[in-house]
Amino acid sequence: MKNYTKIFQGTAFSSKSSKEIQILKDYLFCINANGLIEKVIAPEDDDYQILLDAYRNEENFHRLAEGQYFLPGFIDLHVHAPQWAQAGTALDIPLYDWLNTYTFPIESKFADLDFAKNVYQDVVSTLLANGTTTALYFATVHKEASLLLAEICAEKGQRGLVGKVVMDNPEQSPDYYRDADTPTALADTEEFILAVKELAKSTKQGVYPVVTPRFIPSCTDDALKGLGELAAKYDTYVQSHCSESDWEHGYVQDRFNKNDAFALHDFGLLRDKSVMAHCNFLDDDDAGLFTETGTAVCHCPISNAYFANSVIPIAHLHAKGVEIGLGSDISGGFSPSLFDNARQAVISSRMLEDGVNTTLPAQERGMPKSRITINEAFYFATAGGGESLSLPIGRLAENYTWDVQIIDTALDSAKLPIYDANEDLHDVFQKIMYLTRPENIREVWVQGEKVHSRK
Ligand code: GUN
Ligand code: FE
Repeated sequence: MKNYTKIFQGTAFSSKSSKEIQILKDYLFCINANGLIEKVIAPEDDDYQILLDAYRNEENFHRLAEGQYFLPGFIDLHVHAPQWAQAGTALDIPLYDWLNTYTFPIESKFADLDFAKNVYQDVVSTLLANGTTTALYFATVHKEASLLLAEICAEKGQRGLVGKVVMDNPEQSPDYYRDADTPTALADTEEFILAVKELAKSTKQGVYPVVTPRFIPSCTDDALKGLGELAAKYDTYVQSHCSESDWEHGYVQDRFNKNDAFALHDFGLLRDKSVMAHCNFLDDDDAGLFTETGTAVCHCPISNAYFANSVIPIAHLHAKGVEIGLGSDISGGFSPSLFDNARQAVISSRMLEDGVNTTLPAQERGMPKSRITINEAFYFATAGGGESLSLPIGRLAENYTWDVQIIDTALDSAKLPIYDANEDLHDVFQKIMYLTRPENIREVWVQGEKVHSRK
C-alpha cells in the first residue's frame, strides 16, 4: 500500500465549474510530502476501507468532527498590506483625495522596518485567520520593507506573492513618498525579484516576486517600459490597478489616448501572469485583449462600491472568457475576509441586474444577466484565483495543493443554523458561504502544513 504523509477524512466543497459546486461527502484526501493532494478517494472506492483501517489510529490521520467541513483556502488577488494600518477609515472621499491625504502618508511610514514588521505580521496572520491561504500583495516603494513582507509570509506559511510598488512619476507622487528616480526604481525592483526568488527556495509553499507599477499615473513611461522588460526577463507576475475610477481612467485617456488595457499592453505588462485590479471601465476590446494575453481581472466588490461609484459587469466579462478572481483591496475595501467580499460580489451583481431606481418599471431597470450566484463568487475566491495565477491551487482535487480551511458549523459560540443532520449539503454550503465568521474557521492549512488554528 502507498505511503502518504497525511490523510484527511471529511466532507469537502470544491468548484466543479464556475457555476456548480462539487460535494465530496466523507472522502479521504491523501497528501504527499510536497503538500499536494495525491489521491482523492470516495467512500465507494476499493481502497477506502483499506486505507482507513491502516491509518485511522495513526498520528497523521485527521478526521473532521461532526459539523465540520473542508473548503479550499481562499486566494486574495489584491491586498495592500501596508494599508491594514488604516483599514476601515477614510472611505468617504474620492480615490484621488484618499490616496494623497491618507494612503501615501501611511505607506511612507514603511521606511521604518519596526513599524512595517508590526503591521505586516498582523495582516498576514489576520488573512490566514480569515481563510486566505494565498495572497497577492502590494507592499510599498521600500525595497527592504517589501522583502520583509515576503519573509513574514514565508515564516507564517502563507503563499505570498509580493510586489515592491513602483511610483517614480513626480507629477503624480509626492516628494515624501516616491522612488528616488527611474533607474533606482528599476534597479530596486530587480534586486527585489532576485531576493524573493532566493527566499522562495527555503519555503515549502512558495513566495513569489511581483512586478508592481502602482497604476499608470504613478509611473513614467520609462518605468513602465523597464518593468515590462523585467517581467519578461524573470518571467514574473505583474499586478497593477486598471481602469478603476473615472478620474484614473480619464487620466490615462488624456496621456495615451487609449484605455489602460492597451496602454499597459504596449509596455509589455499584460502577460499570462498579470492580474489587474478593479477594471471597472473595461470595454469589450479591452476584455478581448485580456483573454488574448491571459491577463486576469481581480474583482474587488467592496472597494468598488466606495471608489468606483459603479458595479463592474463581472458576469459579462466572465462570459467573454476573461479569467477572474476575487480581492479584498485592503484598505479600499475594509474587510480582510473573502467571505465578506464573496457576499458583496453577489449583492452588487443583483443591484446591477435589478437596478436601484424604483420609479422605473421592473423590466426597465438595471442590466440583464448581470447577477452571479454564491457558487460563482466562491469560484472566483478559489479556483478562479488559482487559474488567474496559473498555480495548482483553489480546488480540492488530485495534484492540487492541500490548502484548506476547516469550517466548524457547530461551534457553541458561533453556531450556523443547521438543525437537521441530513440537511441537503448544497444548503449547508450556502449557509457556510453567507454566515461563516472568523470564529468558525477552526484550522487553516497551506501546502499540507497547519498554519492557523483556533482553540
Ligand atoms: N490606485 C492607485 N493606488 C491605489 C490604492 O492604493 N488603492 C486603490 N483602491 N486604488 C489605487
Ligand atoms: Fe488597490
